Amino acid sequence: MTTATEPLLVAREGAVAILTLNRADRMNAVDLATLAALRAAVDELWGDTEVRAVIVTGAGEKAFCAGADLKERAGMTPAQVRRFLKNIREVMGEIEHLPKPVIAAVNGLALGGGTELALACDIRIAADNASMGLTEATLAIIPGAGGTQRLPRLVGKGRAKELIFTGRRVDAAEALAIGLVEDVVPAAELLDRAKALALRIVENTGPVAIAQAKFAINRGMEVDLESGLAIEAKAYEVTIPTKDRTEALRAFGEKRKPVFTGE
Ligand code: COA
Repeated sequence: MTTATEPLLVAREGAVAILTLNRADRMNAVDLATLAALRAAVDELWGDTEVRAVIVTGAGEKAFCAGADLKERAGMTPAQVRRFLKNIREVMGEIEHLPKPVIAAVNGLALGGGTELALACDIRIAADNASMGLTEATLAIIPGAGGTQRLPRLVGKGRAKELIFTGRRVDAAEALAIGLVEDVVPAAELLDRAKALALRIVENTGPVAIAQAKFAINRGMEVDLESGLAIEAKAYEVTIPTKDRTEALRAFGEKRKPVFTGE
């Protein structure tokens, strides 16, 4: 079921939500309207416990997202640019911390904010025709939606600097080799592969466990090991009183598949 139209399509397939940037004629560049739609959709997903996994992708076959809408940007005052940046940073943060897995299905070009959007997701699957890069420095700006922070955390400081300083794009094979994406698949299979991954999570795991694992990884990676282990212990604690944990133990004993309700 499609619940919204331009510039972002929000579809539901069972427990999986699919967000599709829907400006194919603009290479799915993010303008103010797209950003507002993305914020609203992510906000909705925070509260919707029936959605257990999210896929983010782009309409058409050419682009995942070509970053900020540079045509709109050209008409903005410096103050408006600052507000846009604050807004997009916040939206990326909301995606990063959404208490459910978010999979980027990178279906082509992902430049600037497009790569930053993929970086804010939990797992990235790229089509074999994907091309990714933080090209901002070639526009005399820097990545401003988390790219200077999330890219080095994923691929290492030196590679991130090389890529950000040059604005060089990487193809899918190189993105895989440097750890910028977790998988590369034939373009025609991309969405199905992303859905299969989402379903594998949804059908086999407890939602509270996934939310807590994501929290522990995201927050724990930013602190020293001892503090990270303390975060893990607290996150584990949240799973102990859940009905799903008891159900898993009962199902194991009864040699059947557990039925998780998220309670
Ligand atoms: N903002 C606004 N419009 C964009 C855009 C962006 N970021 N990226 C692409 N478009 C538009 C193009 O202007 C063009 O529209 P037009 O035909 O009305 O002029 C349309 O999308 C198709 O792009 P086009 O440039 O014709 O396709 P291409 O295959 O030759 O090149 C790109 C595609 C993405 C490589 C090129 O458009 C580009 O470099 N875009 C800027 C990407 C970028 O630097 N993003 C970082 C922003 S911080």
